[in-house]
Amino acid sequence: MKLRPAVALDAPRLAQIEAAQPMSAHWGEKGLAGEIIHPFAQVWCAEENGEILGFLALRLAAGFCEILNLAVCPQACRRGIGFLLLSRAFAEVRARGGQTVTLEVNVRNIPAISLYQKAGLKETGRREKFYNDTDDALIMGAEL
Ligand SMILES: CC(C)(COP(=O)(O)OP(=O)(O)OC[C@H]1O[C@@H](n2cnc3c(N)ncnc32)[C@H](O)[C@@H]1OP(=O)(O)O)[C@@H](O)C(=O)NCCC(=O)NCCS
Repeated sequence: MKLRPAVALDAPRLAQIEAAQPMSAHWGEKGLAGEIIHPFAQVWCAEENGEILGFLALRLAAGFCEILNLAVCPQACRRGIGFLLLSRAFAEVRARGGQTVTLEVNVRNIPAISLYQKAGLKETGRREKFYNDTDDALIMGAEL
């Protein structure tokens, strides 16, 4: 598995992956292409045999990192790709002076919450009815 920064040409494949995962953020091809070139953003891809199987998007500013999108295509889930992407992202953020990481996740999203716990994040708060005015968001975070 190769991890590399995304380039604008990857946006259509990343859009396909997020479309196949209802619990991910849905930015679409245009939103993803814009994020890939945003100066405060990092978008990481996991690639195997030339095919992107998952990606993670974050923003880092003033030592503060926010994970904004993460998805692994359904056929490649439970192979450690999500954990690999998070670990790599945290290492890069640390190397660039990042001190804290935070994210929001739907309380019903057990796979993602379990992944974040495994990566060392803890619940730091909750936003009521954050998703579609029904589901709460857990706020999770960690010191890097
Ligand atoms: C969440 C997601 C990125 C996990 O990716 P993944 O590559 O399957 O995760 P990994 O294989 O690296 O799993 C790492 C850990 O996460 C947890 N996990 C992953 N999938 C899980 C599942 N279906 N049920 C319970 N725990 C799960 C486990 O703790 C796992 O460790 P283990 O394999 O040692 O038990 C993937 O399920 C996904 O794309 N989901 C839809 C999009 C989404 O929810 N994004 C996050 C929005 S906040």
